[in-house]
Amino acid sequence: MRASRPSRSATKVGQAVIYLAGDERYGALLPPDLGAAAERLLTAAGAWKPWQSRLASRPWYRRFVAWMERRTVPGHVLHLGLRKRLVQDEVETAIEDGVAQLAVVGAGMDTLCLRLAERFPRTRFVEVDHPASQRLKRRAVEKLGEPPPNLHFLAADLASTPLDEALTSLPAWAGGERSLVVAEGVLMYLAAATVEAFFDAVHRATGPASLLLFSYVRRDAAGRLELGKLSRLVRLGQSATGEPLTWGVAEGELAPLLEAHGFRLAGPPERFDLRRRYLEPAGLGDEPLGTIEGFALARRLD
Ligand SMILES: C[S@@+](CC[C@H](N)C(=O)[O-])C[C@H]1O[C@@H](n2cnc3c(N)ncnc32)[C@H](O)[C@@H]1O
Repeated sequence: MRASRPSRSATKVGQAVIYLAGDERYGALLPPDLGAAAERLLTAAGAWKPWQSRLASRPWYRRFVAWMERRTVPGHVLHLGLRKRLVQDEVETAIEDGVAQLAVVGAGMDTLCLRLAERFPRTRFVEVDHPASQRLKRRAVEKLGEPPPNLHFLAADLASTPLDEALTSLPAWAGGERSLVVAEGVLMYLAAATVEAFFDAVHRATGPASLLLFSYVRRDAAGRLELGKLSRLVRLGQSATGEPLTWGVAEGELAPLLEAHGFRLAGPPERFDLRRRYLEPAGLGDEPLGTIEGFALARRLD
């Protein structure tokens, strides 16, 4: 991403969440406080205006957006919303299971740490992000009041600063403890060598039985990123914002790659299938859903 400018894709994810929370069918699939929290944060950041709320509430506008989406990347906004639900569900499970600290890498305008830090005051939360993106977020958070004392912010460009170096500079981070590191919608923006260095850094920065939860873009047999039928459009859009998609992994190569860096895939694959986990039980199994990303939970091999 461009060094001097906050991530645009991070703001877009936040806007998509606000929009989806207002959907009469899909809104209930999101964590209940997510839409309002995203709206507060983006409004404080100047990235969501009252006219956008008014527009998003107009039925004709929602029909227009749905029509556009069907013609471009069907189900992409729903995918982003269910991604938030999946990450929150997995994070809550890990905390209830004894994880002492959590690092959300490339947090962007995500509100997970802000919301959960209050609910879990004994867990330590750290947001790590590129300095340009985090500057915008921190200003917005400060406008909204004092952040919870168990929430910490660390600015680091992962392309030049290894995650463990950043985390160990923070007195609140205890490297030897059981931790969870989350990288949601982030690793695909990094070079392959940076992603591999990131896996090593997570291993060094965490204690036994720690977990790493991340999303990834798949690579096909010819080595191309699988971006669906409109791959060129998706790529053009990402490049125009200065955030090209670069890293992907073939499904069969994920497990060996993680093992080479000291992690093993955890959990059955259906747990990370958004359609099976969230849409089918809600009777929405036939809805269009973006498939651009897969999800992995990996456990640190001690
Ligand atoms: C698509 S946004 C995702 C934001 C958030 N995780 C979410 O899902 O709402 C990508 C995030 O990755 C971060 N990022 C991209 N390249 C980075 C780098 N080299 N170092 C640190 N963060 C980076 C951006 O700042 C941005 O916050």
